[in-house]
Amino acid sequence: MKKFFSVEDVVNVYDLIKEAIYLKNNPYNFKYKNKTIGLVFFNPSLRTRISCQKAAFNLGCHTWILDLHKDSWKIEMSDGGIMKTTQEHLKEAISVMSMYCDILAVRTFPNLVNRDYDYNEVIFKKILNYSRVPVVNMESATLHPLQSLADIITIAEFTSFFKKTCKVVLSWAPHVKPLPHSVANSFSQWISKIKEVDFIITCPEGYNLSNKFSDGIGVRTIHNQNKAFENADFIYAKNWSSYSNYGKIICNGNDWMITKKKMKITNKAKFMHCLPVRRNVVVEDSVLDSKSSIVLEQSKNRIYSSQIIFKKIIESLS
Ligand code: CP
Repeated sequence: MKKFFSVEDVVNVYDLIKEAIYLKNNPYNFKYKNKTIGLVFFNPSLRTRISCQKAAFNLGCHTWILDLHKDSWKIEMSDGGIMKTTQEHLKEAISVMSMYCDILAVRTFPNLVNRDYDYNEVIFKKILNYSRVPVVNMESATLHPLQSLADIITIAEFTSFFKKTCKVVLSWAPHVKPLPHSVANSFSQWISKIKEVDFIITCPEGYNLSNKFSDGIGVRTIHNQNKAFENADFIYAKNWSSYSNYGKIICNGNDWMITKKKMKITNKAKFMHCLPVRRNVVVEDSVLDSKSSIVLEQSKNRIYSSQIIFKKIIESLS
């Protein structure tokens, strides 16, 4: 694997899940001496930051971390301007950092203002271009593939590796701030590769994902949450801002919060969320604290989703 930007960089998703589960059972079996993984954050993180460090440690690799939003020079992202208020251009910053590691993993969120700019992944494409080493996407403007891989590893574990067909629902849930689409987009992209999964998205009118991550890949969307929850085996809750009215909160949708009452409609579904989650905004305490909640299992699997990706990239280094 020469880079990891999206599911499109994966040859076979089923094999990747199997290999990740093997690593989970044998975390220290593969050691790569004298390899360094650089972790660069333009935006905050808890899980991604620490799970990637743990994954690197399991592989015997060294890591360094830079929180660019607080620990470095003010980075200029646009080209051709006169840099009076910014101190270092993305071009030098990425090129230099990539000389200090064998893999460069980067997180950079969308601006949620200019849809074309975000959906063309302008910043991440520049990063891929400027880096001299393979790049890993730790969440870009529109995608969060390490999260989605952890999510489908978790579903594989709870279904004895998709032994029989199961129904997975991605449900929009309310939030107080406009959030990126990356978790929802990526989850839709990855889960639709699993043929044993009957997958459906439910959200209020005006919150449909981009066609590229819904209709365009054969994923249905319905606007009746209760109907969607019928016979569901997994409920994945996530907020995202509007795609059509880009980056906006168009209704507060408080009646879309995941409650114990709604979970009763399901087939004793497991509750999923990528975290962080706002309690009693997105989901009731009674659901998050119930036995059906598997959010911690998802977070744990963030280690192995990163570990398998780092391993595959290291093995492809010449
Ligand atoms: N789920 C996730 O990516 O968490 P962090 O933002 O804390 O890394």
